Amino acid sequence: MGLERPITPMQDLSAQDYKLIKALFLNLFGLVLPKTIPPVAKTRSLQFFNEHGVTDLARTISLWQETKATSAFQPLTDIFTVNHTSFFRENAHFNYLSQTALPAIAPVQLPRPDRQLRMWSAAAASGEEAFSLLFAAHQYYGDPFWEMEAGVLATDISSEMLRKGYSGQFQNERLQKIAPQIFQSYTHKQSEDRFQFIEKVREKILFRWFNLASAKFPFKQRFHIIFCRNVILYFSEARRITLLENIFNALEPGGVCLSACLK
Ligand SMILES: C[S@@+](CC[C@H](N)C(=O)[O-])C[C@H]1O[C@@H](n2cnc3c(N)ncnc32)[C@H](O)[C@@H]1O
Repeated sequence: MGLERPITPMQDLSAQDYKLIKALFLNLFGLVLPKTIPPVAKTRSLQFFNEHGVTDLARTISLWQETKATSAFQPLTDIFTVNHTSFFRENAHFNYLSQTALPAIAPVQLPRPDRQLRMWSAAAASGEEAFSLLFAAHQYYGDPFWEMEAGVLATDISSEMLRKGYSGQFQNERLQKIAPQIFQSYTHKQSEDRFQFIEKVREKILFRWFNLASAKFPFKQRFHIIFCRNVILYFSEARRITLLENIFNALEPGGVCLSACLK
């Protein structure tokens, strides 16, 4: 992947090195990284560079960019993105979905074949939002939901997070906001401290790598529901506008997009 063999391992990341990483993230993902490098990110990225024999970061980054070697720097993406999430985070959004948005968009009165539902968790992190979307929809449709042509596309730029979500496995301590009946009916025990969603649930979510800073969105069909939460705040002002335009173009007429900013 164009990475050099180490001569002397990198001992530290200079301010100049971090400037290069920041420019890379802004350019590729529209993201504005913190002014100073977070200590954990520094340790993890030094480890990554040393494991891959990177001694001249400027040269390595320009090679990555020339060869468009996205997979080569993927671990950096896992290191520098903020992946915090939880089930039913900002629960009012999920209540709005089951009580207001779905009855208006894809009402239960429609005949089954017309009652499609395409939802998108656009910065899904480890998938808790996508699973919460399924259960909010299930709350409105009841059990016929599992037979509907309905599901969630869950996308992110962190492969590590996408792998976690795809596994459908979570620590029991992540459970706080999941209703006991969901836990009893739709999960099984993995180990003393872990559970997994059953296949019927997992197969309703498609996990895919997708960069929200892409100039054009490639989706063939539009979405009835888009959750794009706690990500726009990390985008540069200039890139936010394009992102919002693209998102609105990806919505079905009458569809609903929910966004949230904690700051
Ligand atoms: C704080 S989490 C939000 C998770 C979830 N939406 C929520 O509100 O709980 C932000 C996620 O956005 C992802 N992200 C950042 N920039 C992105 C981009 N350009 N394209 C797609 N995902 C991105 C990060 O990898 C991270 O997993």
